[in-house]
Amino acid sequence: MTDQHFDDFALADDFTLAAESAPLLPVILERIAAEGGRITFAEFMGLALGHPEYGYYSREDLAWGEHGDYETSPEVHPIFGYLWARQVLECWERLGKPAEFALVEPGAGSGAFMASILTWLRARAPECFAAARPTVLDGHPHRLLQQRATLEARGFVAEHALTEDWLSLPGTVTGVMISNEFFDALPVHLVHREGDALREIYVASEDARLALVEGDLSTDAISRYFDRLGLQPGDDATAEVGLAARDVMSRFAARFERGYVLTVDYGYEARELYASWRKQGTLMAFRAHSPQPDPLDQPGLTDLTYHVDFTSLAAAAEGFDAAPLTTQAEALTVLGLADALRVAGERASSDVQRYAAERRAAETLTDMSGLGRIKVLALAKGAPLEGLRCLRPLESLMRQ
Ligand SMILES: C[S@@+](CC[C@H](N)C(=O)[O-])C[C@H]1O[C@@H](n2cnc3c(N)ncnc32)[C@H](O)[C@@H]1O
Repeated sequence: MTDQHFDDFALADDFTLAAESAPLLPVILERIAAEGGRITFAEFMGLALGHPEYGYYSREDLAWGEHGDYETSPEVHPIFGYLWARQVLECWERLGKPAEFALVEPGAGSGAFMASILTWLRARAPECFAAARPTVLDGHPHRLLQQRATLEARGFVAEHALTEDWLSLPGTVTGVMISNEFFDALPVHLVHREGDALREIYVASEDARLALVEGDLSTDAISRYFDRLGLQPGDDATAEVGLAARDVMSRFAARFERGYVLTVDYGYEARELYASWRKQGTLMAFRAHSPQPDPLDQPGLTDLTYHVDFTSLAAAAEGFDAAPLTTQAEALTVLGLADALRVAGERASSDVQRYAAERRAAETLTDMSGLGRIKVLALAKGAPLEGLRCLRPLESLMRQ
């Protein structure tokens, strides 16, 4: 066997191993071939996260929290949902206590967030709980089944639907849409700015492996996205463009007659996200709680995420007013985390373990080097935004 044959053999063997561990890879390679040699990064991300059989979020066995690839706030502790439930209650009151109150959560993960919101409302705000029409949405049937099981186990009845189906329903609702780390899981296009030109980064195949290649923009919508913002990514910078996130937000907004949209997500305002010093964009790949250097590696087994552009999201919600962004750490604190800790402290001696767990959870949720720096975007239509509890600065609360 010559060296050349040996190399080919090794490559074939690597490829077989990769395909066995990431069965989505051959599917993506086929799609690339069918589309003439490359697909947009958004199409790749859509397959990697959402392919009906092998996509990361479509898998039946997806694990959440400490057993999964990353931990989201609702998985840290139900107090996250209990605190946001207080905000939901205030929104219901500000909307005039409607007898039918839509409580919509897209991208609901394990169902833990909605379960804890409903648990608090049932115990502390029975009138609001009776009015609430919980609707749990996801892009993937296995997730919907899991979310239904989580809620049913706690005695809650909710509507479960694919996001696309719910968005296509006729008519409008009044209520609250609340989401945690939903928009940052939607597919993004990748671009690279070279001088005055914006180039798109595609996924192609090279020697049966995935590789990033540059080409012209796949759609004018990308240039229009930056024209609307009145800015461009920095020179020689790579950046994500969330066309899907903007589109989904605009469709959600259109389904609300009146209401609040509360978006909790990693992200920045556009001028910060596309600041000239940010050269590498914000795309991240995760497996087993570890960041991965190559977003193309092990598609379907790797979570992909990025920081959302809140300026474009807010602008997409037509008819809604937007408040300045706040952080999760600030929002949870003004929603009552400090009070919750005080109450926990008062019963610490009777259950030390529980107290320790609650303190740890509070620290994790507000840690400014982790979950605490997640941002909150509050939007309102046909209801007041000013003075909304999660936005109230701490000083004004202390004066009360
Ligand atoms: C990062 S997880 C967050 C889950 C949950 N909100 C939490 O905080 O634990 C993203 C969620 O969005 C869902 N998702 C991903 N793509 C989606 C899409 N196109 N439409 C609706 N849901 C989607 C995933 O299935 C998953 O439930």
